[in-house]
Amino acid sequence: MQRQAELEALALQCDRCQGCALATGRQQVVVGRGNPEARLMLIGEAPGADEDAQGQPFVGRSGQLLDQLLIAAGLDPQRDLYICNAIKCRPPANRRPKPAELAACRPWLARQIGLIDPQLVVLVGATALEAVLGIKGGITGLRGQWCDASAGPLQEELRGRRLLPILHPSYLLRFGRESDGSPRWLTRRDLAAVREALTAAPN
Ligand code: URA
Repeated sequence: MQRQAELEALALQCDRCQGCALATGRQQVVVGRGNPEARLMLIGEAPGADEDAQGQPFVGRSGQLLDQLLIAAGLDPQRDLYICNAIKCRPPANRRPKPAELAACRPWLARQIGLIDPQLVVLVGATALEAVLGIKGGITGLRGQWCDASAGPLQEELRGRRLLPILHPSYLLRFGRESDGSPRWLTRRDLAAVREALTAAPN
């Protein structure tokens, strides 16, 4: 309950944030959804139009696909995980967040990681990989490989946690194929590995 109260306080502070120019274009700040007590945290890129309108991350087409894939892997999005984004305000025309915007929002993400205290962290897409580990352009090579944050801007907050980069669902939406080796097939495999790691991790 303490954690829930602290997250609510954090959300109220986020609502007032004027840390970068994205504050002027948002309808609302999008903080997180799911179970604050979960041992698994997913971090995506940024809210899109649907998320900005509803105030919840991953509720548009990408989010619906992500939920389907999580459920297919045996993970309940309400019970088994907490999900948020690297930045909390929608960039105009859904462009990628700029490095200065990622930096301005990082203290919020750092506090979320501290409060949720997850054992496992899934980095959903290239921007999350950049925001969390400081790695640009490495998602295709790094997806599916467990790592730790021995370097990068959030290394303190992430000490002792296992991280797994995966492809972003908006990328998967461009490829309907499910054949072996396809982006969707790889992501199903990666999420199955997450489920397995969660089951194996001590409570
Ligand atoms: N894409 C993201 O990365 N996050 C959202 O909340 C929605 C789409």
